[in-house]
Amino acid sequence: MISIIIPTFNEADTIKLIVPRLSKVLQDEGISGEIIVVDDNSPDGTADIVMELAERYPVRVYIRKNDKGLSKAVVKGFELAAGDIFVVMDADLSHPVEQVPAMIRPILDGKCDATVGSRSVVGGGYHNFPIHRKITSKVAGIMAKGVTSLSDPTSGFMAIRKSVIDGIALDPLGWKIVLEVIVKTAPRFVEIPIIFTDRKQGESKLDSNAQIDYIRHLWRLYGYRFPTLFQFIKFSLVGISGLIVDTAVLVSFVDLLSFDPRVAAIFAFFAAVCWNYTFDRLWTFDSGKTTKIAYSFISFVTICLVGLGVRIGVMHLLIEYAQMGESPWYILASFIGIFTATIFNFFGSKYIAFSKLFR
Ligand code: GDD
Ligand code: MN
Repeated sequence: MISIIIPTFNEADTIKLIVPRLSKVLQDEGISGEIIVVDDNSPDGTADIVMELAERYPVRVYIRKNDKGLSKAVVKGFELAAGDIFVVMDADLSHPVEQVPAMIRPILDGKCDATVGSRSVVGGGYHNFPIHRKITSKVAGIMAKGVTSLSDPTSGFMAIRKSVIDGIALDPLGWKIVLEVIVKTAPRFVEIPIIFTDRKQGESKLDSNAQIDYIRHLWRLYGYRFPTLFQFIKFSLVGISGLIVDTAVLVSFVDLLSFDPRVAAIFAFFAAVCWNYTFDRLWTFDSGKTTKIAYSFISFVTICLVGLGVRIGVMHLLIEYAQMGESPWYILASFIGIFTATIFNFFGSKYIAFSKLFR
């Protein structure tokens, strides 16, 4: 059996069109299926209409009262669905109802575990879609290329084998449930060309918040896909902020408290180490609740001190053997030293200071 999940918000006009058409397609093709509408308590009475439709068609509605959002509604639909293949589609007939059999057939035939409706493969495209939305969609798609090989990453139309989703923690934000599912479950997928037709009834619920949510969602997915690289980027950002702290402390101690710069540098170093430790603990490695602070902090300080040695050692080698002692080359030598030390500090932090050793 297949379960077709349709998230809705204020789709009173469209739901009464799609349910009969979907039911007919299922019947004509001899597919046994159920339609699950997950409605976010729409004020326009969408849910009541589905309840009426339920007398004649294989459809039911679940009303979410305490939460909002397209993706989360679909996740709720996954929980409720009884089929062994799930289809996700919009209520507004933008996704071609007649393509549903083509979406599930490759899965039934064992060719793949998921299919995604694509506007970007041969045979796919748009009908009556405003140009600015096409552009937004394209840009959004390009931004996702690092996490998926989907040709149309912002598509909202897919079919997937239930067993692929089981046990995977889905944590979508905003709209892109298909992207979330494909990145997290990494199924064997096939793209099915679709013509996306803009809705004739009602209006799009996509607003500027959806775009911000999309960027936040992508950030998470990149983190999921490339955890170490992602941590390294965070670690480097914390490092740069630490450099600002270091300089601020140095300047204040020298200019305001008349310290010798070489002594002030020691205070500056420890201020920066404390700063970095805090943010690496809470943000980069997100280990604030579990890591025992004392040993982890002491090892972090030690790693940073050894890192300083690495930096000076690398500088020494470059000055000695690459003739980088003269201005301005020593600055480059210093940068290469900082970069090497950052890598050293990163792996030291990851595998010692914030590792399982101190949990
Ligand atoms: N439950 C629930 N909660 N459903 C929602 C919500 C919500 O907050 N917001 C929207 N929906 C439902 C709509 O009722 C509709 O069935 C479906 O999600 C898509 O909403 P539209 O408002 O029609 O979106 P769109 O046409 O702008 O965007 C569609 O096309 C984009 C591609 O350009 C969606 O499929 C997007 O995911 C897709 O990226
Ligand atoms: Mn739409």
